Amino acid sequence: MNKVITHHKVLGDERGQLVAIESGIHIPFEIKRVFYIYGTQPNVPRGQHSHHKTQQYLIAVSGSCQVTLDNGQEKVTHILDQPHIGLFQDAMVWGSMHDFSPDCVLLVLANEHYNDSDYIRSYPEFNRILAK
Ligand code: TYD
Repeated sequence: MNKVITHHKVLGDERGQLVAIESGIHIPFEIKRVFYIYGTQPNVPRGQHSHHKTQQYLIAVSGSCQVTLDNGQEKVTHILDQPHIGLFQDAMVWGSMHDFSPDCVLLVLANEHYNDSDYIRSYPEFNRILAK
């Protein structure tokens, strides 16, 4: 799998920390949508789907979680446990978010507006499309 984790520069001083993420500079797409997930449970995974076109960039801005990415050939689990770590999930990569800490706020930046028809929620269907 290509490089998917980025450790962003932390711009900190005595007032606290700041991380800046810019389209086309730190992430490889223009941001059209932002959503965030919180109030999760450690034993309840989320995601478990892929997208035809949507690319995502995930940051645990508070707490921690794990994200397993699967491109059909390789499956890698990443730990997001610092607010300056970003994870790129490309289109046609199956993603599962799991093992959330109670304080986790998972921020997701996306290159497309929400569109239910962009989702692939069946793993066999995901494999069928990859095999085409
Ligand atoms: P869902 O895709 O199940 O979340 P997850 O990827 O974390 O498992 O989304 C939960 C609900 O929110 C579902 O009804 C779709 C809706 N939703 C939007 O309306 N806009 C969005 O951008 C997202 C990601 C979800």
